[in-house]
Amino acid sequence: MLSDGSISQAVYQAQTRLTSLSSHLRTSKSKIVVCRDLGPDVMPLLTKRDDIEVVTWTEDCVCDREWLLKNISGAVGIVIVFSELVNAELLDAAGPNLKVVSTMSVGYEHIHVSELAKRNVRLGYTPDVLTDAVADISVMLALMAGRNANETMGIVREGLWPKFIWAPFALCGPQLSTSGISPSRTVGFLGFGRISHATLARLIPFGVTDCIYSSNPNSAASPKKERDEALLKQYQPQLKSLRPVDRDTLARESDVLFILAPGGPSTRHLIDEDFLRKMKKHSVLVNAGRGTVVDSDALAKALREKWIWGAGIDVVEGEPNIWKDHPLVREPRCNILPHIGSASFETRLAMATLAVENCLAGIVGQNMPAELDVKAS
Ligand code: DGY
Repeated sequence: MLSDGSISQAVYQAQTRLTSLSSHLRTSKSKIVVCRDLGPDVMPLLTKRDDIEVVTWTEDCVCDREWLLKNISGAVGIVIVFSELVNAELLDAAGPNLKVVSTMSVGYEHIHVSELAKRNVRLGYTPDVLTDAVADISVMLALMAGRNANETMGIVREGLWPKFIWAPFALCGPQLSTSGISPSRTVGFLGFGRISHATLARLIPFGVTDCIYSSNPNSAASPKKERDEALLKQYQPQLKSLRPVDRDTLARESDVLFILAPGGPSTRHLIDEDFLRKMKKHSVLVNAGRGTVVDSDALAKALREKWIWGAGIDVVEGEPNIWKDHPLVREPRCNILPHIGSASFETRLAMATLAVENCLAGIVGQNMPAELDVKAS
């Protein structure tokens, strides 16, 4: 028979063993750090798993760097958005367990890809799922810029409508749709990937007649002859031509120019004063790619001095630190959105889900639904 004393000692020992086992189990779970709350539909994909310890930055603001550097230690995966800089400092803080960085974005300028390659860390991103949302907003910006949305809405917002006298040609702007007196439209694309193709598809019903593009800023040649022929065939007879051009031609011939190119040093300020001076007086510039592609001061000057008609931009170099006195914000013909190209409920849900799926697949060495080859980039 066990005495009361030995029973309580046995219970005590069992409790100690359980505590140590559960703490072992806890620490043997794979840690994933999530730098933004991904919402009630997506977070459970992580939090409902028994094999994963999820550490989430729950504030609705940019993830604090010190918090991240501290919490990433020992993590196998990290889910980020494009405000998190992934560099050697962060990867060193994570340590050798880290297998995957998964970004909820198609762009990856915030990630030092070569540092990932050095450490055999895989990279997940979210292409395709945002194509339609960004193409939608590109067309919206083209319409807003052509038809003076910013300037004319300002009249209403500031209570000036009662004083506004309707006049035959007041507040007119160039029309996106072709018309009897203006039967052709050339749309230009700087960057001719998925989002540009989806934008072109949306523009065909407006009567666009010609499409030019420049995918490689230094060359007029395109190796994608078959793709171009197929695209042209798809939109004929409405679309009369589709061809790659050099940047000079892109500037001179575009009625509406869409910048849908990635950021980074190779595209920085491709749209500069020289380019803008060559554009048509009634042309419209749309940037839904990356702010760094356009020299903001040059664009502000182009608008102020009326080298071009208007601009519609979803991205600005230096964002989000764009204050009221920014030269572009001060231009009435500059229609600016705060980087909301992918901000539809459907698209953000798809992006967040894909980011989590990429992370979960990557940490167990499976094929990720959308992986960027860091060794090839
Ligand atoms: C991206 O995914 O890179 C976008 O710019 C964010 O919406």
